[in-house]
Amino acid sequence: MDKKSVDLEYELELLEDLYELVVPKFREANDIVVSMLDFPADRPIRLLDLGCGFGHLSSRLLEILPNAKVFGFDNQPAILQRAQKRTQEFGDRFVGLVRDLNESNWLQEMREIDAIVSTFALDYLPPERHRQLIHEAAASLQNGGRWVSCEFFRAKDDRINRVFHDIEVQLVQDKLRQGEVSAEEIDQLSNSSLLRQSHYVVDVAQKLSWLQEAGLKTVDIPWKFLNLAIICAVK
Ligand SMILES: C[S@@+](CC[C@H](N)C(=O)[O-])C[C@H]1O[C@@H](n2cnc3c(N)ncnc32)[C@H](O)[C@@H]1O
Repeated sequence: MDKKSVDLEYELELLEDLYELVVPKFREANDIVVSMLDFPADRPIRLLDLGCGFGHLSSRLLEILPNAKVFGFDNQPAILQRAQKRTQEFGDRFVGLVRDLNESNWLQEMREIDAIVSTFALDYLPPERHRQLIHEAAASLQNGGRWVSCEFFRAKDDRINRVFHDIEVQLVQDKLRQGEVSAEEIDQLSNSSLLRQSHYVVDVAQKLSWLQEAGLKTVDIPWKFLNLAIICAVK
């Protein structure tokens, strides 16, 4: 392996191990996303996980919904490979697809989808593309199908932004003190080229309006913590 691929492997390993430790409320947010999917466990369903990353959420869905098939979309083949590994016990119930959500053909011929979920990923899309993707996603959902996503949002009150930032810093300091992570790892993580890609945080009202204009109903916010919010909707 050349130095570049060794570096990438190391960066991915670090991200996979540490991301959930340094994002405030990561587990709680995942719990709420999962709990919004009220499908009977015995019903065969098809779910999409947009920007599935290392497959944390996909694997929980596969565990809780034993008849579900999850299609995990990500534009990084090396990350998807790790998601495949994490979900290997579920066999072909997880299908990893290398797709760029910035391209309007990301869905290709995928139809009859029961739910679309996404955590900490859609804020990588420029706002106009994010809006379009919601329209494309809504069109692919079955009637009664669900949308559940969780992202960072820009708060109107700057105090909220500041408190969130302070909590992030505090969380990292706690993990350092507890020895769960080293200062060197945090340094490397903050220079991660994957995490440092551009982010486009919109405000929650904007996102709600995109879901409504795409024809989705009962658009709501089942959970919010400072700059983080989960948004759900039904077709
Ligand atoms: C911060 S990670 C979150 C991963 C996972 N959803 C989680 O919560 O652990 C964001 C993921 O979105 C993916 N991503 C970013 N931009 C993307 C795009 N344009 N198309 C597909 N995936 C993208 C990244 O590769 C990364 O795996």
